[in-house]
Amino acid sequence: MTNIVILTGAGISAESGLGTFRDEGGLWAQHRIEDVATPGAFERTPDLVHAFYNTRRAQAAEAGPNAAHLALAKLEQHHSGSFLLITQNVDGLHEKAGSRKIIHMHGQLDRALCHVCGYRWDAPTVMQTGDPCPKCAAQATRPDIVWFGEMPYQMDFIYEHLANADLFVSIGTSGEVYPAANFVAEAKHAGAHTLELNLEPSSRASAFAEVRVGKASQMVPEWVAEHTL
Ligand code: APR
Repeated sequence: MTNIVILTGAGISAESGLGTFRDEGGLWAQHRIEDVATPGAFERTPDLVHAFYNTRRAQAAEAGPNAAHLALAKLEQHHSGSFLLITQNVDGLHEKAGSRKIIHMHGQLDRALCHVCGYRWDAPTVMQTGDPCPKCAAQATRPDIVWFGEMPYQMDFIYEHLANADLFVSIGTSGEVYPAANFVAEAKHAGAHTLELNLEPSSRASAFAEVRVGKASQMVPEWVAEHTL
């Protein structure tokens, strides 16, 4: 029984038309992280931060899953061992493809959070400064996104799965952001085979036992076909 752990990043959604962060012209070339993706930014200029996520929420709502997302959903359905999909992405495309066993370690664009009472709900298409929390009415609502300097979600659960992984596959991530960038080391320590599927070798490529270079929409279905024969 093979325990599979998958990690995905923005590269898996690139062919669905959603921009990545660090590629040429990516999101972090258009906006400074400290202006739109930190608690301090939200404190200083909440309208700007809401505008940034409102735009991305609208783009994600229009986007559809590509063959890579669909292949991972198929693998989850057919795999008899344990299966966990950890995504750094907030775009909801894995759900649209039919994946269910997902950890959104960086949050989700289509969820909102009250930073007074911690209540979470489905985000409206457009979030605005001063929107009241549906539960406590505090005007303290924010996108349910993990910003730089904040702790990603469900890390204990993630490390438990990495400690029992037989196969760890990283797809479409530059390996620039921790703790996700260190998952390969955790999996290797557990004795797992480690595979990177990426458009180009990531900054963590040397940590992987196997690296395949190419587009996710081609490579992921090919790789899944090897595992669902
Ligand atoms: N197929 C496969 N890989 C691709 C494709 C593609 N079609 N297009 C781009 N890539 C690869 C790029 O080569 C790059 O290595 O996807 C990776 C995207 O890297 P980033 O833009 O850094 O995105 P990601 O790794 O998801 O960023 C991690 O950083 O800013 C934070 O919270 C944000 O979750 C994000 C985290």
